[in-house]
Amino acid sequence: MSELYRNAAEQSDAAELQINPVFARPGEATSLPKFKLPDGMMSGDTAYQIIHDEAMLDGNSRLNLATFVSTWMDDNAQKLYVESADKNMIDKDEYPATAAIEDRCWRMLADLWNVPDTTDTIGTSTIGSSEACMLGGLALKRLWQERRRAEGKSTERPNLVLSAGVQVVWEKFCNYWDVEARYVPVTEEHLVLDGYELDTYVDENTIGVVAILGQTYTGLYEPVKEIAAKLDEIQAATGLDIKIHVDGASGAMVAPFCQPELEWDFAVDRVNSISTSGHKYGLVYPGVGWVVWRNKAACPESLIFHVSYLGGDMPTLALNFSRPGAQVLLQYYQFLRLGREGYREVQQGSIDVATYLSSEIGAMEQFELVSKGDTIPVFAWKLKPGERNWDLYDLADRLRMRGWLVPAYPMPDNLTGLVVQRIVVRLGLSRDLAELLLAAVTEEVDFLENLEAPIPREKQRKSFTH
Ligand SMILES: Cc1ncc(COP(=O)(O)O)c(C=O)c1O
Repeated sequence: MSELYRNAAEQSDAAELQINPVFARPGEATSLPKFKLPDGMMSGDTAYQIIHDEAMLDGNSRLNLATFVSTWMDDNAQKLYVESADKNMIDKDEYPATAAIEDRCWRMLADLWNVPDTTDTIGTSTIGSSEACMLGGLALKRLWQERRRAEGKSTERPNLVLSAGVQVVWEKFCNYWDVEARYVPVTEEHLVLDGYELDTYVDENTIGVVAILGQTYTGLYEPVKEIAAKLDEIQAATGLDIKIHVDGASGAMVAPFCQPELEWDFAVDRVNSISTSGHKYGLVYPGVGWVVWRNKAACPESLIFHVSYLGGDMPTLALNFSRPGAQVLLQYYQFLRLGREGYREVQQGSIDVATYLSSEIGAMEQFELVSKGDTIPVFAWKLKPGERNWDLYDLADRLRMRGWLVPAYPMPDNLTGLVVQRIVVRLGLSRDLAELLLAAVTEEVDFLENLEAPIPREKQRKSFTH
């Protein structure tokens, strides 16, 4: 026996496994310190069981209609994921094949997004849209700084113009990189940034304008072409040449397939860079994102580092160093597996489910739609005015009790008085599941309508996840 065991600890683990049935073992039948690193070791089976069981208390990700992030991939993808879990994306010398696949992926996206010259462009994978947006924003800032320095002008007070409805990453960008955020408020008439009064927000210190393709709050697209046309007018009047970063976290992987007539990408001259989340409608598990620049000049060389300590000369354009390579392979898997036609079918399938759900919910007497789910498959609704003992937060709570996560939240400035509820349809929410969800919504609304008084409890006003 002894040569089978490398040390006494393993021997005692093995003995414990033989003697103690599952759930009667120390650690499973007793409690462990939660906030201190344990002094000793435990059997791998026990550690596994503890974590497996705790994770069981997480929600069912497929019923989470708050998140945009993929919660389902097919069996081949699962297999690839397990096979490539050890790959570190930064080790391009060690994993040249994965590096080549990363290169192919962003080039495919550059082509999909109509870069004018596929031999003169630059892009990279990232950990998600947040990192991709940061890089897009940093390039805009650096371009502005270089231009201002060349003109002998101050670089002290950069600002970025964006809708008040941007995702939190843009608040982070402005905060972390000392850029003044100039938020254009959303109103009933202008639910998204559409160029209206843009001239009152931009000036010589504006590093760029962010346009969101698939606003997080409602799923609505910001009209990139109209924003660009407004910036053209501003340039004609003032000489300011202001570029756009398209935050296509969701929409950049939907519009090319389902709204091919929409002009939003590099076909619009002012678009400097585009980012997306591979792990949203790119249909990959978290975390992978992408950012591509119109041409090499659109991403200052000074943002690229060259490192040699992993072997060879390795250019790196990223905030992270090490990160998983598996997701990049999964992205390539989806690109190969689905192609343009497959992506169109999958995204259109989700749009069909979203528009079916929105038409049913919009037809209920209590609700009015804010968006329909015909851009990205995401839609939101609000309560019609009226006296009632419940609100959308109550409905969210009731649905949560049945396992469905359908968040309610206030709109951004100037519409914070307006509370909406949102459904994000992703691959995996079939028509059948959608019908079960609708039944749950109808039953819970009936329950709430029959309340004789408001539910007496501290209401949770949680922010939504995405
Ligand atoms: C418009 C938009 N931008 C950026 C992000 C951040 O994306 P990620 O979670 O991939 O970092 C999101 C996430 O929902 C988003 O909706």
